[in-house]
Amino acid sequence: MANKLFITDTILRDAHQSQAATRMRLEDMLPALKALNEVGYWSVECWGGATFDSCMRFLKEDPWERLRAIRRAMPDTKLQMLFRGQNILGYRHYADDIVDDFVRLSIKNGIDVIRIFDALNDVRNLEQAIKSTKKYKGLCEAAISYTVSPVHNEEYFVNLACELENMGADTICIKDMANLLLPYDAFSLVTAMKKKVKVPIHLHTHNTTGTGDMTYLMAAQAGVDIIDTALSPLANGTSQPSTEAMVATLKGTDRDTGLDLSKLSDAAVHFRAVAAKLKSEGSLDPKVLNVDPNTLLYQVPGGMLSNLISQLKQAKAEDKYYEVLAEVPRVREDFGYPPLVTPTSQIVGSQAVLNVLAGERYKMVTKESKGLLRGEYGRLPAPVNEEVRKKAIGDEEVITCRPADNLAPELAKQKEEAGELAKCEEDVLSYALFPQVAKTFLAEKYNPKPAYRELFVEDLGN
Ligand code: CO
Repeated sequence: MANKLFITDTILRDAHQSQAATRMRLEDMLPALKALNEVGYWSVECWGGATFDSCMRFLKEDPWERLRAIRRAMPDTKLQMLFRGQNILGYRHYADDIVDDFVRLSIKNGIDVIRIFDALNDVRNLEQAIKSTKKYKGLCEAAISYTVSPVHNEEYFVNLACELENMGADTICIKDMANLLLPYDAFSLVTAMKKKVKVPIHLHTHNTTGTGDMTYLMAAQAGVDIIDTALSPLANGTSQPSTEAMVATLKGTDRDTGLDLSKLSDAAVHFRAVAAKLKSEGSLDPKVLNVDPNTLLYQVPGGMLSNLISQLKQAKAEDKYYEVLAEVPRVREDFGYPPLVTPTSQIVGSQAVLNVLAGERYKMVTKESKGLLRGEYGRLPAPVNEEVRKKAIGDEEVITCRPADNLAPELAKQKEEAGELAKCEEDVLSYALFPQVAKTFLAEKYNPKPAYRELFVEDLGN
């Protein structure tokens, strides 16, 4: 019996986040939305992750308005977002009432599927977001952050998937953000998961190490239900494998996606021009398309490599690159093997740089490293190096409860703080997540500066 493989296209979120620093604008999307809506995808990922911050910080665009515009243009397709558990779309833990309200308004403004993950796979950090997604009738996709370490084996991931299913997940995502899941391991993991988990399994990988298409093909053979791909103009390299390649590969097989290549090509024509524009603006560096074996060797995600290089450049210590690369897995081990994804990738990366540049390991320890070792981000996957912890935080108490249990409700306080700046409940949340950025953004949005032409006329004394 044919068992159709479903496709989520990431062209409006992860594809440009991974290849072009999240710089695609709504105007770059709008002309293609009708074509995307007609493809027949399982869902289109279009919101969340870094897009929210990028909209306000760099593009001067209201993320909520973007979501509503996409919703209007794509009435027949499920819209999907990426949600960082208790961190929502930010970089710290927010109180439960903020998480709840963010889920409520995401769904109200048009989101159908919420993919929720935690960098440490501490399920307590997913609890509130899962509960709220169910409460507001969203489709809840709970994600496992995939990584490789002595504690992260197949049994660990299958148990985690079962736990997430029991918590109410409607689908389970294996989120392989660094393309570390190799094809034969994917076959084995998906086979094992399909035996224990009843809800659909959704696989997310990238093509950073050049194995993405093969990983998807092996997962398809093992019975994975849904995969994430990106339309070809922004596919491959640090982004997802291309939609068209997977659709063509599976055509006529028992995993036929049912998607029509000619319809995909209509949408791809538009995004080719967008990719060219992003390249000419400097947001898309062709380097992102190279296959990167360092990721396989050092298990450092592609985005993290470019961060390390820029940190070393700033410190005029580019010659220390390979020393830092070798230090990353050691820091990761000391910290109890966190998967490397936002925010842990930044924390481990910065600490590795400091350890090398200071000439003595943990002579300097960042605030974030201390937080991680103190348990502020949740439970670490494996025991930490106690000597390192002692050096970093001394005899300070380590948090063992769910970190958000220590946070008092903060929605009312944020609303008061935002004051006149916030004209609607969505504005309050923009402010709560990114106070500094939102302050500037909302002020400019509601009180736009006079356009250049008007200034010019004023200067002439008219
Ligand atoms: Co991704």
